[in-house]
Amino acid sequence: MPFKLQELRQAYTAYQEFLGKNPPARHARYIFPFFVGSYFTYRKVDVRRVVAIAGAIDEIPSYLDVGCGYGDFLEKVRGYLPQATGIEKEGGIFEFARKPDYVEIAGAEQCPAVDVAFVGWMEPGTDFRSRIAKAAKCVITTFDAGGQCGINGGCEYDEFDFEQVAWWRTPSWIDVNAELMNRYYTPSLTVERNEQLTKLRSAHNFWYVYARPDLAERVRAGLKAHLAAENANDCYDFESVLDECGFGYMEELSTLTKARKLWEVMFD
Ligand SMILES: C[S@@+](CC[C@H](N)C(=O)[O-])C[C@H]1O[C@@H](n2cnc3c(N)ncnc32)[C@H](O)[C@@H]1O
Repeated sequence: MPFKLQELRQAYTAYQEFLGKNPPARHARYIFPFFVGSYFTYRKVDVRRVVAIAGAIDEIPSYLDVGCGYGDFLEKVRGYLPQATGIEKEGGIFEFARKPDYVEIAGAEQCPAVDVAFVGWMEPGTDFRSRIAKAAKCVITTFDAGGQCGINGGCEYDEFDFEQVAWWRTPSWIDVNAELMNRYYTPSLTVERNEQLTKLRSAHNFWYVYARPDLAERVRAGLKAHLAAENANDCYDFESVLDECGFGYMEELSTLTKARKLWEVMFD
């Protein structure tokens, strides 16, 4: 269900109060992700992967970010694919920021035919997969472990005759937020207790890549070729917060049982 605007207004007031306290640079995106970040945490490598996947489908691929919010991730993708656009159902959110020309106020139900649809973190219960599956050749989606999208908690596209090509794990903003709160905003925590809590850190966000069966091998090959030369040193400023909080590129988290290395791409 799209946001309730009244709740968003309250959150925006809290965001402004937070900024008034001159917090450490780059913390805001992990505390107020909707206004200045995204609900999934990303690095430049994620943007480059998404761009490489799109490039495997077409030289100039059409790309649509569905439910893009203010378009934080979309803006980064446009650095490589200037033709990329977004749709956002709730026009009221632009009460707090200017709407970019490349974002249209429209529901996913009106999704046009595209090479790639990106669906970054939908609220639990929101499910427009059947429309996206009709419109897109490839779907890249991020969601939290534990189930979100459909009535039965599914975000997958297998049931719409898509093939899963690859997946990887990153933290959600909540995972990073918990670390930041312990380190900077809970003065009563001792160093020892903080270290104990750090060992419990997890990463709950998954990125799944789906393609129509006739394109799956092409997308897989394109992503593999890209990964062979992936360069994690080419990064955004805000990634320093992830490093500092123990969510490094290829960091292995002891609390995980499968795909323990963050950002490691799985093709199984
Ligand atoms: C949790 S926010 C995620 C925003 C952004 N993708 C991110 O990850 O930060 C979900 C966004 O999807 C929008 N949304 C929900 N249902 C939608 C629909 N049917 N069509 C288009 N946008 C929708 C909401 O208004 C909201 O801006």
